Amino acid sequence: MSAPAPLAAPRGTGPALCAEAISKGFTSGKLRTQVLDGLSLSIDTGELTLISGPSGCGKSTLLAILSGLQPVDSGCVTALGCDLGTLDDQALERFRLLHTGFVFQGFNLFPALDALEQVELPLHYLGLSRRQARERATQSLDEVGMTPRMHLRPGELSGGEKQRVAIARALAKHPDLLFADEPTSALDAANGQVIIDILHRIARGHGTTVLCVSHDPRLVHHADRVLSMEDGRILSDRRPAPPALLSRGATA
Ligand SMILES: Nc1ncnc2c1ncn2[C@@H]1O[C@H](COP(=O)(O)OP(=O)(O)O)[C@@H](O)[C@H]1O
Ligand SMILES: [Mg+2]
Repeated sequence: MSAPAPLAAPRGTGPALCAEAISKGFTSGKLRTQVLDGLSLSIDTGELTLISGPSGCGKSTLLAILSGLQPVDSGCVTALGCDLGTLDDQALERFRLLHTGFVFQGFNLFPALDALEQVELPLHYLGLSRRQARERATQSLDEVGMTPRMHLRPGELSGGEKQRVAIARALAKHPDLLFADEPTSALDAANGQVIIDILHRIARGHGTTVLCVSHDPRLVHHADRVLSMEDGRILSDRRPAPPALLSRGATA
């Protein structure tokens, strides 16, 4: 039997994500809200891109669309060279399983599982053996500095630690695309900084394309690129100076 056709192009062949003139609206009762209005963007492989914008401007909706969780009303989304509009629900689910990781503001951990079990769980769906899953999970937890606390449940962890477990869970899948929706907004400054550093390292060290939506200004100088969103469109697109250059400039 021949192997199923790959759902995505290999890494390094064009942008990781591409949206062309996408529009999305919601209707509740008689009220129609147009959230995205002909938005286009292209996200490069292996970069940490930040999307900022006021609350309600459509950031979470955009992430849900780019990760294949929500369909567009019109326009086209290409992820890893694959036109998401051509995939049925089952193929979309498989695409998300194989290629994407997600980190949420509220961590989304299972209360009854310890950190190691949280990270192992999705690996079983990927078809890894118990031993492989354990190996990958311990490696990912180590990368986010959670080895000493890997047998604790969410109730015994701080917010920052919970978010590190959630990142390890996403990272252990070795995703091509990592989506993070306001990953630091429930955290204090110090813990937020740790999370930002980890996301940065994931993009640098693993070549993962990291797309993070946040209005946290601390994230800006760690991002390779910052896109500002307003009224359902991208208003600005810039590449901020890294913190090292900024401090050198300040002392020169
Ligand atoms: N499933 C939905 N049904 C109806 N309205 C929605 C839905 N999801 C989002 N919206 C509306 O779309 C707008 C953008 O929401 P969202 O993408 O969550 O913005 P942000 O993440 O920037 O705060 C808001 O007005 C929100 O109420
Ligand atoms: Mg949101």
